[in-house]
Amino acid sequence: MNIQENISLKNYNTFGIDVKARFFVEITGLVQLQKVLELKAYPKKFIISGGSNMLLTKDIDALVVHIKLKGISIVEENENFVEVKAMAGENWHDLVMWSLEQGFGGLENLSLIPGNVGTAPIQNIGAYGVELKDVLVSCAAMDVKTGELEGFDNEACEFGYRESIFKNEAKDKYIITSVVLKLTKKDHVLHTGYGSIENELKEKGIVHPTIRDISDAVIAIRRSKLPDPKEIGNSGSFFKNPVISQKAFDRFTKKNPNAPFYEMDDNQFKIPAGWLVEQCGFKGKRFGDAGVHEKQALVLVNHGSATGKEILDLSKKIQDEVQKTFKIKIQPEVNIIK
Ligand code: EPU
Repeated sequence: MNIQENISLKNYNTFGIDVKARFFVEITGLVQLQKVLELKAYPKKFIISGGSNMLLTKDIDALVVHIKLKGISIVEENENFVEVKAMAGENWHDLVMWSLEQGFGGLENLSLIPGNVGTAPIQNIGAYGVELKDVLVSCAAMDVKTGELEGFDNEACEFGYRESIFKNEAKDKYIITSVVLKLTKKDHVLHTGYGSIENELKEKGIVHPTIRDISDAVIAIRRSKLPDPKEIGNSGSFFKNPVISQKAFDRFTKKNPNAPFYEMDDNQFKIPAGWLVEQCGFKGKRFGDAGVHEKQALVLVNHGSATGKEILDLSKKIQDEVQKTFKIKIQPEVNIIK
């Protein structure tokens, strides 16, 4: 086991924040992970995987455990379905591309989401009408106290919009080590209802799309408005889209008749936070190296050497302004490490 000291985490978080890990170790096997968790000399541990959904605001005075568990395998199949097990350290988009190469359907709408497999259940990643919860059978997670592996089936994960048990009761108690996903081998269920996918397919003259066509459309849409973390540091949507009651919605639409919204079950309405942030004049704005993306106001970016604190301060400024202007609270989707 190679425990390193004072390692920069700049290349381990997609925001590209340059903070240091007091200690750092890479994990490629489950037994190795159990051994690391048992190390009494390093009582504080901090788990990092794809680093795509966190904002680091200070040095991490702990043993940073970088999960590099790899492997994709088929665990069960019949003529219609296949169950695929993917280890936590696999890159999410690589898994999506692998599934398409095999002709398996279910992940195409989730193309190009940054991050690793093990982080996907924590915030129930979702895009273009599909969420991880729609395909996840179960995940395995290691109890950080006992080193024992536990299984969580779909229901036990308590998924919600950008939510799961791993962000709530089970927060910091488990390390997700693998997931099992149920994918289709034929009669794929296509989700093309999301407006921009329909337009993209229409523009290309595609009437009967394949799962690959949908993936290509999603990739084209994402590339056109979301910044590539390899080019400019970011963590995707920084805020969740706020969900408001019928009463609050009535008040809101009266004042803002042209605002976009999604109607949800039980008389609730989701308002796109990106629209709210744009209306407050933040789109494309820059404060030092911390900024708001020019094509999608929901995404905060690091133009180079912003600190986590600068990004956090900007996010608070935005929250305050949205609250003042619309009387709506927007909350970060990103995990803020203070
Ligand atoms: N909008 C604006 N200005 C902006 C951004 C958006 O007016 O700067 C408006 C758009 O015109 C549109 C509406 O807001 O009417 C919704 O925009 P969009 O379709 O781009 O989706 P979103 O609600 O902003 C959500 C997810 C994304 C996901 C897309 C597509 C959240 C917090 N974000 O964004 O997820 O890719 O839908 O499904 O739910 C992520 O989590 O990192 C992420 C990118």
